[in-house]
Amino acid sequence: MNEFKKETFSGSKTDSEWTEIPVSIAQGAEAGYPVIIRRGIVSRTGEIISRFNPSGVFIITNSTVRNLHGDKPAASLADKGYTPVIIEMGDGERYKNCEEFIRVCGELIKSGANRKSLILAFGGGVTGDMAGFAASTVMRGIPFIQIPTTLVAQTDSSVGSKTGIDTPWGKNLMGAFYHPKAVIIDPDLLYTLPHCEFSAGMAEVVKTAVIRGGDFPEFLEQVPSNLMEIPGIILEEIVTRSVKLKSELVSRDMFEQNVRAYLNLGHTIGHGIEAASGFNGYSHGQAVSIGMAGSLILSEKLGILQDKNLTAKIINLLVRFGLPVKYSNIRADSIMEYMKFDKKRQGGGVRFVLVKEAGSLHIEDIDNRQILLDTLNELAED
Ligand SMILES: NC(=O)c1ccc[n+]([C@@H]2O[C@H](COP(=O)([O-])OP(=O)(O)OC[C@H]3O[C@@H](n4cnc5c(N)ncnc54)[C@H](O)[C@@H]3O)[C@@H](O)[C@H]2O)c1
Ligand SMILES: [Zn+2]
Repeated sequence: MNEFKKETFSGSKTDSEWTEIPVSIAQGAEAGYPVIIRRGIVSRTGEIISRFNPSGVFIITNSTVRNLHGDKPAASLADKGYTPVIIEMGDGERYKNCEEFIRVCGELIKSGANRKSLILAFGGGVTGDMAGFAASTVMRGIPFIQIPTTLVAQTDSSVGSKTGIDTPWGKNLMGAFYHPKAVIIDPDLLYTLPHCEFSAGMAEVVKTAVIRGGDFPEFLEQVPSNLMEIPGIILEEIVTRSVKLKSELVSRDMFEQNVRAYLNLGHTIGHGIEAASGFNGYSHGQAVSIGMAGSLILSEKLGILQDKNLTAKIINLLVRFGLPVKYSNIRADSIMEYMKFDKKRQGGGVRFVLVKEAGSLHIEDIDNRQILLDTLNELAED
């Protein structure tokens, strides 16, 4: 702990305070929404939601999260006189589908949700994406709040207003940009995460550190690699720094025309690897980790990378947090084919987020097939 300098922390707090990061949405009269971050804050859910004076509260969650943590928001809602309707959805990406979506919407309708109600999404990214999309469509829009419980959801999916579900034709192809009224983040909830889910989140956190630069990469080098050894104040700082960057980028660019695309760092190759392995060889976080190593190697090959030590430094970080930086049992040309079909692709080449140095990125369409293949071959396990 004593390696961390005092300046490391995003703000000094007393017990009654929380960090509030604004996300502006620059549309119509709506001012935006706050992301509230504080260890233990989930026990104050009732106090926070009473600002919105809902006529009824509906919690969408799954049995895993409910069993581990459901008592915390429930008790604080009861204190404020709310008796929430709890709707459990299936646990796992395979439930982020059309059938489950209709079932969840049906539960909301049957139990009387209306435009004065409030929907709370209490779970990981799957729950948040599904609950947000249901909130956006039932009664043409019911107010909702995200209470993310995984590192991926706290640092990535709960901020930025993207909601949606997978379809038989591809992942995340149906959905809506739908703004939550607030995001309530309690980093203490993360201590029950399995190691693989912590690692998956750290892939996106390391990505954030490369995008942000400054002392973020060095800060992460000092963070213990085992979740249980990370002090609460450090975990809160990791989440706060990640949310700050994401909220800044999406506030500037809600619909992903420009700077928001920096968040796709590592995702071009990452998506190719996920698809080429039939979506069951590598988790998203693992694929992004390999993709980030790939982006750095490609940036070097193209002569864009100025900080020659960065590749080794980031690869070390990823490996330390239990992430792979090479793939096996997939062919480079198969990854190539899937990269070409990436839905964020525009124009002729394959769109890449490249790195000059930590904190300085560059987006380019690469159509030099050989250099891409060489990069993918370097990422193959010997
Ligand atoms: N909307 C966006 O902008 C955006 C961004 C990134 C990812 N996503 C989506 O997010 C999803 C991935 O999210 P995820 O990684 O959170 O997966 P997830 O929601 O499936 O959660 C992972 C696992 O952790 C469990 N879990 C949740 N909280 C826990 C806790 N506190 N302790 C122990 N276990 C807990 C869940 O039940 C689940 O089994 C994908 O569907 C992806 O498409 C969306
Ligand atoms: Zn991602």
